[in-house]
Amino acid sequence: MPDPPLLLAARRKPTSFTPVWLMRQAGRYLPEYRSLRARHGFLELCKTPQVAAEVTLQPIERLGVDAAILFADILLIVEPLGVGLEFAKGEGPVIRRPVRSEADVARLPTVDVASAVGFVFETVRLVTRTLPARVPLIGFAGAPFTVASYVVEGGASRDYLATKRLMREAPGAWHRLLTILADATAAYLNGQIAAGAAIVQLFDSWVGALAPDDYREFVLPHTRALIAALTPRTPVIHFGTGTGGLLPLLREAGGDVIGLDWRVDLDAAWRAVGDDVGVQGNLDPVALLSPPKTFEASVRAILRRAAGRPGHIFNLGHGVLESTPVEHVKALVDMVHDVSAR
Ligand code: CP3
Repeated sequence: MPDPPLLLAARRKPTSFTPVWLMRQAGRYLPEYRSLRARHGFLELCKTPQVAAEVTLQPIERLGVDAAILFADILLIVEPLGVGLEFAKGEGPVIRRPVRSEADVARLPTVDVASAVGFVFETVRLVTRTLPARVPLIGFAGAPFTVASYVVEGGASRDYLATKRLMREAPGAWHRLLTILADATAAYLNGQIAAGAAIVQLFDSWVGALAPDDYREFVLPHTRALIAALTPRTPVIHFGTGTGGLLPLLREAGGDVIGLDWRVDLDAAWRAVGDDVGVQGNLDPVALLSPPKTFEASVRAILRRAAGRPGHIFNLGHGVLESTPVEHVKALVDMVHDVSAR
């Protein structure tokens, strides 16, 4: 059995077409997800391996994508820290007891990841048992900065005021918090790999909020230590948004493939990270709200910029939006396969 196209591309080996998967391919734009979700809470779905495995598999046959992404969340890892994680209806994630000070950081317990998130590893085992061989499972976690931003702010944020203040006013506490998160996350990803994930993606979704010097000082050492602690030979995709000014630094932190959002030209971004890593991206998710004939030119432009070079994984620049028609997503996957065939 030859290696699946996604894994070949992650190692910058040639493939007969550009592999494609979509961030948030398992989620709310799918009617079959919404119907499960009507009956169960989000955390309950994540913690019930049979059901989480079913949600992971829902988009695979339906879309014809080249990878599955585990159904879980980047914040599952902080629940055992006792910060009061909830997914309130329509509000997104909420942290009831945010970590805002030196004393708050000092109170955080040491997490035994394997016992706290064993349900995720069980989901990985169930999924990898059922997936077709050409479709690898992508494990994932949040990167230390993005996860810390939720823990410090108490939820989603626009300006990251509390996060940036903690960083500057109590750097010792900040570095301790990021060390705790990086250690727990390395164990969490290695657990997913041991259970069968063939490749992992690290989501630093909100890191684009930082000045390059702040990234260098407050984030890069932690992300680098985390990536260096991962099981050797498992490819790592390192993703962030708004990272146009940070790309060489993200690359310095690590990863075999750098995930790009839609605010950069793929070829220029690839030059910025260097041709000894792959790139993933980078269609604007909003493009999928319009019919295929309307987004075809953008898809072709991205593939033209990648120019068939080994190491491109097609994806959106961020997750599929909830109001996206499923037929448009399916049409995108077919289009990428057809246009890139070589
Ligand atoms: O299909 C997939 O990509 C797999 C599953 C997945 C989820 N979350 C499920 C989910 C993945 C990879 C994530 C990652 C995640 N979670 C990120 C990084 C990716 C990104 O979008 O930047 C972040 C920042 C989170 C935190 C989070 N979880 C938010 C902000 C929200 C609410 C808003 C939203 O975008 O949906 C969640 C909840 C969540 N995670 C849902 C799903 C399917 C929706 C829950 C529901 O059904 O109400």
